[in-house]
Amino acid sequence: MIMTQDELKQASAAAALQYLLANTAPGAIIGVGTGSTANFFIDALAAVKDRIGGTVASSEASKKRLEGHGIKVLELNDVVDSGQDIPVYVDGADEINAKLEMVKGGGGALTREKIVAAVAKTFICVCDQSKQVATLGKFPLPVEVIPMARAQVAKALTALGGQPRLREGFVTDNGNLILDVHGLSITDGAALEERLNQIVGVVTNGLFAQRGADLLLLATADGIREYFRG
Ligand code: 5RP
Repeated sequence: MIMTQDELKQASAAAALQYLLANTAPGAIIGVGTGSTANFFIDALAAVKDRIGGTVASSEASKKRLEGHGIKVLELNDVVDSGQDIPVYVDGADEINAKLEMVKGGGGALTREKIVAAVAKTFICVCDQSKQVATLGKFPLPVEVIPMARAQVAKALTALGGQPRLREGFVTDNGNLILDVHGLSITDGAALEERLNQIVGVVTNGLFAQRGADLLLLATADGIREYFRG
């Protein structure tokens, strides 16, 4: 049966919900990502909203969608201050490699995504087969920057071999800008992630290598394939 890309994304999101039901206790707090695949997960989560303790959203858009379903959204600071944990974080990716390192931030939510992912015990990446790549970097790497640092960060990114382009007309939930870096072929994701973080004015970069996914639920025409971080 031929499935559309949206049907594949929905299948991956449904598999994440099944994982969550099988692997978390009732009352668990769930981290929720951003994007079209995460939206399918939010829609699926609505069916079990009374079984979970609440959610932490990685963007204003996801928060709005969660609340639209009547799903409780908690502040991350309150969750951490109260000593609770987030057993599972579910999010999509723009690219993912065999080591389950990702490029994320196509929707511009990379900073909050990275923060929630850092707190979560298990990161489940939900995506369709088109996101699986041998080498990261064909998808332009998003870098969130403080507005006054845009020009100098762009220079630094160019010196590293990339071609940064300002995402026109876009402001992040944190009031910052996004530079999308074209032309990278990322062979050592963890090293590049660290190097980019050292550029003054960079808030976050969209490489999720140091904290990659723990489980990839990849939707293919032949069903869901599971990949665990090695
Ligand atoms: C948003 C993200 C998304 O996870 C990524 O862009 C994938 O989106 P989609 O599920 O719509 O393909 O990182 O900042």
